[in-house]
Amino acid sequence: MKLNAEEQAMRDGDGKPGADARQMAMDLLVRYGEALDAERLVDTNNVAGTSGSSSIFIRDFYAKEGALTRDQLFSRFDLDSDQAADEIPNARTFTCHLQTRIDPAHGEMMGTPKDTLDFHLESQNHSASLGVQLLNTCTPYANGNVPVMGEHCAWMESSAVVYCNSVLGARTNTEGCESTASAMLTGKIPYWGFHLDENRFGRHQIDVDVEMDSVMDWGMLGYFTGDAVEEEIPVLTGIKNPASLIRHKHFGAAGASSGGVEMYHVVGQTPEAATIEQAFGPNKPAEIFRYGTEERRRTYETINANGHSDDMDYVMLGCPHYTIEQIWEASKLLAGKRIHDNCALWIFTARGVKDVSDKNGYTKIIEDAGGVIMTDTCSAMSAAVPKGTKVAATDSAKQTHYLPAITGVEAWFGSTEDCVNAAVTGKWKGEAP
Ligand code: F3S
Repeated sequence: MKLNAEEQAMRDGDGKPGADARQMAMDLLVRYGEALDAERLVDTNNVAGTSGSSSIFIRDFYAKEGALTRDQLFSRFDLDSDQAADEIPNARTFTCHLQTRIDPAHGEMMGTPKDTLDFHLESQNHSASLGVQLLNTCTPYANGNVPVMGEHCAWMESSAVVYCNSVLGARTNTEGCESTASAMLTGKIPYWGFHLDENRFGRHQIDVDVEMDSVMDWGMLGYFTGDAVEEEIPVLTGIKNPASLIRHKHFGAAGASSGGVEMYHVVGQTPEAATIEQAFGPNKPAEIFRYGTEERRRTYETINANGHSDDMDYVMLGCPHYTIEQIWEASKLLAGKRIHDNCALWIFTARGVKDVSDKNGYTKIIEDAGGVIMTDTCSAMSAAVPKGTKVAATDSAKQTHYLPAITGVEAWFGSTEDCVNAAVTGKWKGEAP
């Protein structure tokens, strides 16, 4: 891989003696880029990652090898280095923290052991001290990190990556803890995959032949699409209603769960698909799928295959993290009502959104009904559900996909109204559209 003078200087350790963290980061990017056949690196001023060395297991593992300080641990794990650096320099480029596994305000309710919480908080302080913005959400694009069209980014989190590429027209591959940590310290990422024009064209066509009227409709279409195209780029045709941020959020998250969709085009809506010709570029559709009422019904049944009992224990909203508009809607559905004694309602969002919700009075309405708003994490990320939960419901196809596998519960998928009704009555009554 060719390095320019600035990159080569970082790789040489800028002439500093001893173990240099930026040198370790550049070494990792070169190894990573060469494994991908990338010819060079590209500048990035937009990194979204998480600190991988924030778990007690990782701390104890590297402590046995002599990495005792936070900086030493970060260099061994997040920079994948054989050496331990005594000092991690500040972030060289704008970097935000994605979701974590812990909500510090609800550690006890989520069953987080005290030592785990303490080490997590230490790790968060470490990230902040390096200049990482603690957005702590899977929806950075709804919380102050909105890259522009064509901007080169280094993002983790599948639902954020697909939004970044498809809806914003910015460019990122699905990165990991190590590559985002290295990008943070160098402002570089391998120029490969979705950074290149030729890898952003459609491969399969999905002809949509149903009305797309709700967030639930977009979640189901996303789930169908991921299953159909797997890791290829779909081009969706026939959708008349323009989709909102929320609908794209649920579509992309679902497509990245049933399949590995990292980018999609909606003809006439997303920025690189003004026409079907632009969306496909030089490609011809390899396969054409139809999504009509029969496909929608089958998709609904597939997503709900893990739901059996109609006795509700837990309703989870906020996957991907709820926007302030969704919290407002939930508060309207819950106003003056009471969650059933046998059921819990947890709503997950970003800490910045929770702050607005508090100030607008939505949190109080939801809490008065018996619900809880949590931040930074979600049930799938933290593997936490209310004690004794056997049956859950959610308005997210992604969360319905993961929750049974991670926590062993049954899970129903439906509209937000279906979920709130289930929380209030204690019974699941959702139906296929
Ligand atoms: Fe976010 Fe958790 Fe869903 S991190 S995308 S709410 S699985």
